[in-house]
Amino acid sequence: MKSTLQRFTKRSEENPVYRIEADETREISFTVNGKEATVNVAPRVLLSDALRQHLGLTGTHIGCEHGVCGMCTVIVDGEAARSCLILACQVEGSEIMTVEGLGTPDDLHPLQESFGANHALQCGFCTPGMLMSAYDLLEHEETLDRDDIADQMSGVLCRCTGYRNIVEAVSQVAEEYPDERPAPRNCGSGQHLSHGCGVTGVANPGISQDSLIRSRDTITLPTSEPTMVVEVETVVETDADEIWTIMQDTEQLARCLPGAELIEDFGNDKYVGRIKVALGPVKLSFLGDVHVVVRDQENKRIVALVEAADKGGGSVQAEVDLVIDEHPQGSVIRALGNVHMTGRIAQFGRSLGQDAVRDMFLQFTSALDATARGEEIADVGSASAFGMAKQIIKGRISGLSNKMTRKK
Ligand code: FES
Ligand code: FES
Repeated sequence: MKSTLQRFTKRSEENPVYRIEADETREISFTVNGKEATVNVAPRVLLSDALRQHLGLTGTHIGCEHGVCGMCTVIVDGEAARSCLILACQVEGSEIMTVEGLGTPDDLHPLQESFGANHALQCGFCTPGMLMSAYDLLEHEETLDRDDIADQMSGVLCRCTGYRNIVEAVSQVAEEYPDERPAPRNCGSGQHLSHGCGVTGVANPGISQDSLIRSRDTITLPTSEPTMVVEVETVVETDADEIWTIMQDTEQLARCLPGAELIEDFGNDKYVGRIKVALGPVKLSFLGDVHVVVRDQENKRIVALVEAADKGGGSVQAEVDLVIDEHPQGSVIRALGNVHMTGRIAQFGRSLGQDAVRDMFLQFTSALDATARGEEIADVGSASAFGMAKQIIKGRISGLSNKMTRKK
């Protein structure tokens, strides 16, 4: 069997070599769990990071990042490989399977069933690496005895459970399926299972803020499932016409968005802006483009596309659909956001991300309401997921109902 280095060195010799600068990015397309994926990555980005941070496939764990522990094992073109030792730009055109492709919660792969039945995991941190390594072993070895399994699985380290149980789990599957090894259950289904809901498509982590803004005539969102979908609605005292009037004034609108700053208006409803977001101790400052693609006077509806990057390498792409309707107590403002996130911000998880977006929306609508009533809006500095509602909302929507619903 060729080493990972040999296989990818050969790949480099077969393909033309391009020289790109460290801060440039390159679009790389490959197949993950039977589904096409494209990432836009800097040349230094590891496959493990591309899978986790760009595609949201956090089932692949990272331990040592030195090729020692085996946590990050995935299948590349039919062979087990440590994804922390491969650069994402080396897998152009490859077929990759991660632990998400092995099975689903409703349809586990026999190896996953067997690990559960044999208590072959404790904290579970090594389990994705163990499962992928075991899958590779079953695929390549026609006959296996327990000593072989222990030997061949020794490339994945477990810190807390008994190796005997792991060997037993793999051995049982090998005995149960002597002729034809069980196929993966979630490849080619078009569904990734992940923290990021199966994010695929083009994303822009690694793009510097300066190169992001002014560089796009149009914003193209990834075609895949968003990292999160947030659906929120709130009722404010001001009537729908007045709220709509404020929403036509982009400067006023930007002032109502917590932590936001309008930097430049390019005309044609294209803007550059900055927004500061605080997620606990982590402070992020996103700079990017906002394009209003629908401004529907009759239905009081605005649809905007957003593409922004943080200096730390995170990026957010979103479609935000805002609609204002009449309400017996004033008006109701509804927002639907399809948000794609990569980098540090994506690691906070859907729940916290949804809380942050929901709270930002509440601040935004209460500020709109306050502006319509001629009140001064407090400067909140950064949008924050923690305690943010205290600063603006206080007293502004008293007695009115807030109804929020979440998706996913
Ligand atoms: S994280 Fe890849 S081998 Fe340890
Ligand atoms: S089950 Fe905890 S590291 Fe293996």
